[in-house]
Amino acid sequence: MKGVILAGGTGSRLYPLTRLMNKHLLPVGKYPMVCYGIDRLRRCGITDILLVISKQSAGLYMDFLGSGASFGVTLTYKIQEAAGGIAEALELAKGFVPSGERFLVLLGDNLFLDDLTPYVDSYLRQPAGTAKVLLKPVNDARRYGVPVFDSQNSAWIAYIEEKPQHPKTGYCVTGIYMYDEAVFDIIRRVSPSNRGELEITDVNNIYAADRKLSYDILKEWWSDAGTFQSLREAGEKLRDALP
Ligand code: G1P
Repeated sequence: MKGVILAGGTGSRLYPLTRLMNKHLLPVGKYPMVCYGIDRLRRCGITDILLVISKQSAGLYMDFLGSGASFGVTLTYKIQEAAGGIAEALELAKGFVPSGERFLVLLGDNLFLDDLTPYVDSYLRQPAGTAKVLLKPVNDARRYGVPVFDSQNSAWIAYIEEKPQHPKTGYCVTGIYMYDEAVFDIIRRVSPSNRGELEITDVNNIYAADRKLSYDILKEWWSDAGTFQSLREAGEKLRDALP
């Protein structure tokens, strides 16, 4: 199993701090944000990791993380030239993931305490060509992708609504996704959204329509540190999470 961390983007909700550096390098506790995702991957045995970054701060990533050796992982870097969406960034993993191998994708601003091992193990038992997402109950589901479950077979997600006004469930689809190489053909079937980006929810909805999108529910604390409030809360929560 390989790992992919998507750590580009503009971080517009964290302006003006993100004029200084990319969002995923902002301090959370004692480390830049991106280190927590690397730690979660390493702890579940995923040590071969692709970091998709933007041109902004590319040198800083390498200054801090280098080859990854001091974090117990091997890092490969790819540059996403412009902010074209999560699915476009994910497409850059083609070529990094060998045919027949599966991979776990993290959005770099998703911070959490669960050990991913049981979720990875359950995904590895799923048939080829299927995907898995991890969910978390949240207070304000309108900020997120929200799953609606298959009424016939609740093991599968029927569809996901992206930032709905009236969420049908109280769950968020977190930025923790598992795929195999089939995802690259699916990304090619997706068209840019109204905001001109290739949306990960459109990719996941193609799986869902075929009843090929399973889920597990995170048990521990989770946050996306994309706003000043969640960034501050994450810093407090994870203050002593890494040595
Ligand atoms: C993205 C996804 C959304 C998901 C969220 C989790 O939203 O589009 O489905 O719930 O990440 O962090 P964004 O934060 O890019 O608006």
